[in-house]
Amino acid sequence: MLVRMSLLGVLIGCAEVDAERVAEIVSLEGDAVHGEATFDDNCRGCHGPEGVGVLLGGPSLQSEAWAAEEVVAQVLVGGFGMPAFEGELSDEEIADVAAYVADVLSQPEVDGAF
Ligand code: HEC
Repeated sequence: MLVRMSLLGVLIGCAEVDAERVAEIVSLEGDAVHGEATFDDNCRGCHGPEGVGVLLGGPSLQSEAWAAEEVVAQVLVGGFGMPAFEGELSDEEIADVAAYVADVLSQPEVDGAF
């Protein structure tokens, strides 16, 4: 059912976040240590080392307290210059990278550089 729903989403070009998909991935309880490698391979180019942000690139990921749900949703559908990673990364990799962003990078007390 989930597969059919997301396939339908692809077919109609719908970039809406599927809450069930997000919950499914969050429930995997990603591993932030693995997530760091996934981040370096897939996200660092735009968001900078440790997500400090890149001018005219991806925004800082350190300036807000991210919940894993929010990161998973953003990674699944992308948007505004960020690619969608649904189908690019495994569910486990998305869970891991979300844990890394939410648990390690999020430092709301530090002002993001950009
Ligand atoms: C091609 C460049 C690019 C790549 C690769 C990329 N991002 Fe992004 N990301 C962006 C841009 C640009 C935005 C701002 C989009 C927006 O405002 O919706 C963004 C937004 C975000 C946000 C929301 C930030 C905010 O302040 O709203 C999160 C979280 C995020 N990215 C995480 C990731 C993760 C995790 C990865 C790797 C799996 C990744 N991004 C890969 C460019 C990128």
